[in-house]
Amino acid sequence: MPKAKKPQSTAVIGAQWGDEGKGKIVDRLAPEHDAVIRYNGGANAGHTIVVQGKRFSLHLVPSGILYPDKKAIIANGVVVDPDQLLKEIDNLEAQGIDTAGLILSDRAHIVTPYHKAEDARRETLLAREFNEQEATGGIGTTRRGIGPAYAEKAHRAAAIRVADLLRPAELKQLVSRAAQLASPEIREDPDIPSPEAICDRFIEIGEILRPRITDTSYLLHDLQRAGKRLLFEGGNATLLDVDHGTYPYVTSSNSSALGIPAGAGISPKAIHNILAICKAYCTRVGGGPFPTEIQDDLATTIRERGREFGTTTGRPRRIGWLDLVALRYAVMLNGVDSLCMTMLDVLSGIDPIKVCIAYEIDGNRTERFLPDARSLARAKPVLISLPGFTEDISAVRSLDDLPSNARHYLSYVEEHAGAPLSLAGVGPDREQTIEIH
Ligand code: GDP
Ligand code: IMO
Ligand code: MG
Repeated sequence: MPKAKKPQSTAVIGAQWGDEGKGKIVDRLAPEHDAVIRYNGGANAGHTIVVQGKRFSLHLVPSGILYPDKKAIIANGVVVDPDQLLKEIDNLEAQGIDTAGLILSDRAHIVTPYHKAEDARRETLLAREFNEQEATGGIGTTRRGIGPAYAEKAHRAAAIRVADLLRPAELKQLVSRAAQLASPEIREDPDIPSPEAICDRFIEIGEILRPRITDTSYLLHDLQRAGKRLLFEGGNATLLDVDHGTYPYVTSSNSSALGIPAGAGISPKAIHNILAICKAYCTRVGGGPFPTEIQDDLATTIRERGREFGTTTGRPRRIGWLDLVALRYAVMLNGVDSLCMTMLDVLSGIDPIKVCIAYEIDGNRTERFLPDARSLARAKPVLISLPGFTEDISAVRSLDDLPSNARHYLSYVEEHAGAPLSLAGVGPDREQTIEIH
């Protein structure tokens, strides 16, 4: 039989509440692609890649950057904190990584110091009401200015885009308008640089970034026409999508696959393969309902074993059992072609392994996800137990070499999630991956 032709474009999407291991899988798939594209979110994302024990933490820079011959494209849908971007470029260069392939959309929006201050101001104000399970209080954001930057984009009048960094006169007007519209508390905060200082810094950064700035939508079309292979890297995840996630405990962009066409300026028809990443259990950072959350010591065990602390904020991640109701929803919403299950190694020694197959809400059973946070907060998980395994599987590289209970777990998930498994992760290193089909 001739080998099936590989799809020209693939999207790697988080199927849960983030931190599923997208960075590792993008890095793993990058060699067989020509460009890796971020299309949503900003420095709220934290993607970790481990190569022979060396860790790279990326926030804005696409996870294809470790390969010097690949383009790493930040497309129009991303909100860019210019200082953070420069810091990341400098860190990578200092680690010996050639960042020449990094390209930035002229239409990506800029996160300003006002946005970060506004994000923090709102979170602090609402923190008093904050309650992780109830749908009240603060969101528990990363305080990276994401919400205010996307809000500014929708407001339009004082929004700054990457191209504006190269137009000093217009930039000055926009920054002074942004300052005028900022809350008095922020405008008068001595820790916030003056509009003149912000403007000078943006012009300086614009000059540094100038050679990387282009219309990435045309670039992507040119690459497609030339038969090049594209890899889209989702920031955040499906259940954090502003339209389809557990609103209001979500981020401010379309962080499912549904955000790709708008965020990259390509047709929905140009995405040929959707690979969703899920952990062997669930985690969540920040507030919002989490039906399968584990409240006892087992959460601490899993957190420590899986190093479940935020890449962006260092916050301990909340831990829960795998939620198949939520996973089926993610499969449906994204049109998933296959799944990659990461962190299988972390479950070694945990017996039984529980999974959620349905919810009970007000005495009724449902197998449908409830993306409305206020409804989901009332859902009780229906959990079943599967037999665990005790072996260390971190050196396993083929499905046949996994303990039978680990294989059984994978096939149970495959059967109930509604999509085939194509990959499984057994450790953080790019090599610690099992190819399934
Ligand atoms: P992302 O935001 O989806 O890219 O994920 P993060 O990088 O924020 O978090 C995933 C964490 O798990 C990182 O520390 C990865 O190095 C690590 N990781 C990824 N896959 C695996 C796996 O299969 N097993 C283990 N033990 N760790 C993994
Ligand atoms: P990656 O790409 C985990 C969560 C935040 C918060 C909510 C809103 O690493 O998977 P925001 O700062 O976006 O306004 O925060 O969304 N959040 C993430 N959680 N991983 C992420 O990205 C996240 N991006 C946003 O914790 O609850
Ligand atoms: Mg992350």
